[in-house]
Amino acid sequence: MRTRVAVLAGLGSALPPHVVTNDDLAARMDTSDAWIRSRTGIVERRVVAPGSATSDLAIAAGRRAMDSAGAPDIGAVVLATATPDHPCPATGPTVAAGLGLGTVPAFDVGAVCSGFLYALATGAGLIAAAVADNVLVIGADAFTTIVDPDDRTTAPIFADGAGAVVLRAGTADEPGALRETELASDGMQADLIRIPAGGSRQRSHHSTAPPEEHYLTMRGSEVFKNAVLRMTESSHTVLARTGWSTDEVDLLVGHQANVRILQAVADQLGVVRERAYVNIAHTGNTAAASIPLALDDAVREGRLNPGDKVLLTAFGAGTTWGALTLTWPDGLARPRQQAA
Ligand code: COA
Repeated sequence: MRTRVAVLAGLGSALPPHVVTNDDLAARMDTSDAWIRSRTGIVERRVVAPGSATSDLAIAAGRRAMDSAGAPDIGAVVLATATPDHPCPATGPTVAAGLGLGTVPAFDVGAVCSGFLYALATGAGLIAAAVADNVLVIGADAFTTIVDPDDRTTAPIFADGAGAVVLRAGTADEPGALRETELASDGMQADLIRIPAGGSRQRSHHSTAPPEEHYLTMRGSEVFKNAVLRMTESSHTVLARTGWSTDEVDLLVGHQANVRILQAVADQLGVVRERAYVNIAHTGNTAAASIPLALDDAVREGRLNPGDKVLLTAFGAGTTWGALTLTWPDGLARPRQQAA
């Protein structure tokens, strides 16, 4: 029996309309446009309006991905997010319902900024296990809702958005087939990026924990070093397993955490910087959304063509990381990115 392999069949993304520039941030905290640009590569970011939530972005991106795939019969929804609409239940079922997908299995994957790679692997597993023939995999986050708007160490970096792909059952030799995947974690580093309060360890409520402990905290320079190390290691591993040299990589699409991280990973791998895709200037770090958003932007800029060898890699809180190789499919309609 031939193994059922996941093949990329649709792509879409969504950003909220409201733009916050570096100057907007500098007007309310001790930072500057020059510092944020030079240290992160970020120029502006998108922020959800009060009352909007992750599922709104996820539904908009999911619909565009389904349209781009020719409206296939979706059999499961996997949503990567660290900012669910509510602590309980998962947001995946809300998204499936919002897309009119009936009673399909739908759930969340929590691997923060590596979440989209974990969700892709999960979606591919559902296809291999014949649970579904077409799986909608979404990365969506509204990180500005968990970041202290006055904290200059996190507020300039994190942003909101969503990206989605449709995976269909196919074979390993088809363009668009997901090739090799590596996923990893190190819970000894759980305190590098986290929200201290609001979970089962330090329970909810401002009465039991100070307000700042309900916001994201980050040890930025340690995260930086680990991100470079782990994304480089994982990329080497999947390239070796795929049998591709670094010279053969047409596009390296890393999690858009910081332009300096992306350049360091490219340099350490030996991928020329021109082949390391960067769109962080206008998106900021959109966590689980960043890789599919980057893929969507890269397609619209003509940077991804049928048959291209593509390397994805990510690092995030947990800590978690991973990498994945795929070839770019034929005939993927050029999706338009619109406001959610
Ligand atoms: N504006 C101005 N100055 C700032 C600042 C800001 N927004 N944030 C920090 N600084 C200051 C610090 O206070 C420090 O000042 P000091 O030298 O007087 O103590 C100085 O800038 C350097 O701080 P440092 O944290 O060492 O800077 P950095 O070069 O490491 O850059 C990050 C900070 C956060 C941009 C960087 O560490 C980073 O990108 N880390 C990874 C973040 C990330 O990707 N997170 C998500 C992973 S999924």
